[in-house]
Amino acid sequence: MSGANAVREDRLWQRHADMAKLGGTPKGGVNRQALSPEDAAARNLLASWAKARGFSIFTDMIGNLFVRREGSEPAALPVLSGSHMDSQPTGGRFDGMYGVLAAFEALEALEDAGVTTRRPVMAVAWSNEEGSRFQPGAMGSAVFAGRNKLEDMLAVKDWDGMALSDALADTMKAAPAPMREGNPGFPLDSYVEVHIEQGPRLENERKIIGVVTGIQGSRRYIVHTEGEEAHAGTTPRANRKDAFAAATRIAAAMYEATADADDTLRFTIGRVEVHPGSPNTVPGKASFTIDMRHPQDVVLEAHEKKLLDIVAARAAPCIARIDRVTAVAPTDFDRRVIDLVRAKADTLKLSNMDMPSGAGHDAMHIAKLCPAGMIFVPCERGVSHNESENATPADLAAGARVLVEVLVELANR
Ligand code: GLV
Ligand code: MN
Ligand code: MN
Repeated sequence: MSGANAVREDRLWQRHADMAKLGGTPKGGVNRQALSPEDAAARNLLASWAKARGFSIFTDMIGNLFVRREGSEPAALPVLSGSHMDSQPTGGRFDGMYGVLAAFEALEALEDAGVTTRRPVMAVAWSNEEGSRFQPGAMGSAVFAGRNKLEDMLAVKDWDGMALSDALADTMKAAPAPMREGNPGFPLDSYVEVHIEQGPRLENERKIIGVVTGIQGSRRYIVHTEGEEAHAGTTPRANRKDAFAAATRIAAAMYEATADADDTLRFTIGRVEVHPGSPNTVPGKASFTIDMRHPQDVVLEAHEKKLLDIVAARAAPCIARIDRVTAVAPTDFDRRVIDLVRAKADTLKLSNMDMPSGAGHDAMHIAKLCPAGMIFVPCERGVSHNESENATPADLAAGARVLVEVLVELANR
């Protein structure tokens, strides 16, 4: 039996159902934010499955969780596949989790089929990919790749002021795994990440496999405005320094400045905070987040300048500043990995198309370390970052089959 034939659709689907219970929401989605008790539960479940199959597990200092199936040459550089198990606050069951479970299914399929590979094949659940609780996202892979410093990330606080170091310590206590210290960016041979598309193209074009060519660039910011608290009933408009009014002026100008006739530039304000948050006090402070994306870095750069100008021009009589949280340049995946994914999809007679990724993925950081690529499968109506996110068992299994074939080829090079 080949590895791909040993992929079991029922097992892969059941594992999604089991994981969906951890942080499961009444609307059928998940709230399993990074380094929460639900995240720890998912880590424990994955580790228990790995142990039952005799695979070794370990974690690194930022909480990335690895599962390893040995090859015939233990010293050969490993081939790695995975994604993330943390979710958005109103997330779906497949975003990230599919990539982890597909990688794990690949290890199990190789085991069941008795396939020996030259290189070790590893699965990974990267820590804090979503960045909804602790910014920036794709944090575990960024630390692994040496892009972000571990100490800086440990100091990051969530929206309630909890330090990531504390949340990570709690998670490691609740989901213990052998820890590997030091620079975790040990050499890799190659990396392949499987994910639902999170957009409508595959479904619209009736294709099963997306051969991912790259990832668009993205930048995140926080805008802070500061005015003066005042009585809502007595303070004349001319005497107000309303921090929320300043934030809305700035936001409105930004929406206008980022409007794009071909809808390529993506601009989102996803979180707004107003202080002190009392109905009858004029707000003294406000802040909002910005997520901006485009396939070309020069376009992001030009629009960043516009955002800065708007903050400077529209704040009065308040004061305002904009902080850049992260900037990730567009990623081009490795030509050989792209070609290999397409060739394996063709061999398995799975309809496919080349496409870029609009969403960010851990692969964008790992692509700086080694040849990397991605495999997409369709999701219903292209809906993602939503509790109703859905995909079919058959498509999920198809993506895992392509993954197995790709991994075997890479692991025997
Ligand atoms: C990942 O979830 C992203 O925001 O692209
Ligand atoms: Mn994801
Ligand atoms: Mn996501």
